[in-house]
Amino acid sequence: MTTVEPPQRILDNLTTAVLAVDRGLRLTAINPAGEALLEASAKKVLGHRLSELLAPQQPLLAALDEVRASRQPLTARGVILELPGNRSLTLDCTVTPLPDSGKGEGPPALLIELNQVDRILRLTREESLLDRQAANRVVMRGLAHEIKNPLGGLRGAAQLLERELASAELKEYTRVIIHEADRLRNLVDRMMGPHQPPRKRHINVHEVLEHVRLLVLAEVPAGLTIERDYDPSLPEVHADSEQLIQAVLNVVRNSVEALEGKGTIRLRTRVERGFTIGGHRHRLVLRAEIEDDGPGVPPDLLEHIFYPMVTGRAHGSGLGLSIAQDIVTKHGGLIECASRPGRTVFMLYLPLENGHG
Ligand SMILES: Nc1ncnc2c1ncn2[C@@H]1O[C@H](COP(=O)(O)OP(=O)(O)OP(=O)(O)O)[C@@H](O)[C@H]1O
Ligand SMILES: [Mg+2]
Repeated sequence: MTTVEPPQRILDNLTTAVLAVDRGLRLTAINPAGEALLEASAKKVLGHRLSELLAPQQPLLAALDEVRASRQPLTARGVILELPGNRSLTLDCTVTPLPDSGKGEGPPALLIELNQVDRILRLTREESLLDRQAANRVVMRGLAHEIKNPLGGLRGAAQLLERELASAELKEYTRVIIHEADRLRNLVDRMMGPHQPPRKRHINVHEVLEHVRLLVLAEVPAGLTIERDYDPSLPEVHADSEQLIQAVLNVVRNSVEALEGKGTIRLRTRVERGFTIGGHRHRLVLRAEIEDDGPGVPPDLLEHIFYPMVTGRAHGSGLGLSIAQDIVTKHGGLIECASRPGRTVFMLYLPLENGHG
């Protein structure tokens, strides 16, 4: 908050975004949760009219006008807030006219509290997602074991048989058995994700993103651009860079495939404050976004794309996202997806403070 004591510390640590505007609807104060919501620093937004900071014709602006006219507090639930950069949030908002302001003539100054509802919905969804993924992994581990053991026997027997066979023509058959057994084993291995637990170091996540960007740029046609919007103040993250590269690469490759040679991919990084992942509340979290302007995830797949073997592509194995999610989960983080035609965003969250990562 840029106002002075006493409640500064309290406001700074609230997850509710708190904004104050003067009678001309110019922003006079904002807390860190407010900055995070608007994705802009206090320095940049203070003194500006709220109407300049939001997309026009907002239900929120209408609510403010109502309170200015009636001088009565107002709470509105499920208000959609459109922000620049195509972002939209669902909020519960409370607007209170500030006492001792605008007495007599003119409208009062206002205090605005904004609570992100989609975040609450997200937490419930996320909890069940993490639960189901954990259950899935147990089933998959059991299945992998059951498949790999007999597969080893099958392959060994085929090799022995191959040695006994005189005719090259018959050896073709044992080759097929061995080849298919290897393919199946690879598939099962990939399904299980990386074997090694992450070897974590303090790394700069931008190096990971840049590595992926250069890898992908080398493979894609000229009609496809990759833009960067990195937050240079981002602290280092405690992570296995090889594994993170794999996770990000899987997500970016999907965008490349969805764009079919033409379009834009945006890599974005931000810091989130007071963010909960899997029941742990983290003070600071890294949010890395991979956005594309492709056709979007087919709606009937959207709820399931993080599961193994779920694919919308004729030749996809449906493992990319489940591996990415597995890696990120092992780092204490989470991947989410929001998609509609023309805009698909994968959001990768990683805790930033030491000890949790
Ligand atoms: N950016 C995107 N735009 C549109 N659809 C997407 C996007 N990312 C993922 N999808 C959909 O989600 C599905 C699952 O993705 P996932 O990476 O898990 O598997 P895959 O790409 O089909 O196969 P694999 O990655 O194993 O080769 C994709 O087949 C596609 O239908
Ligand atoms: Mg993929």
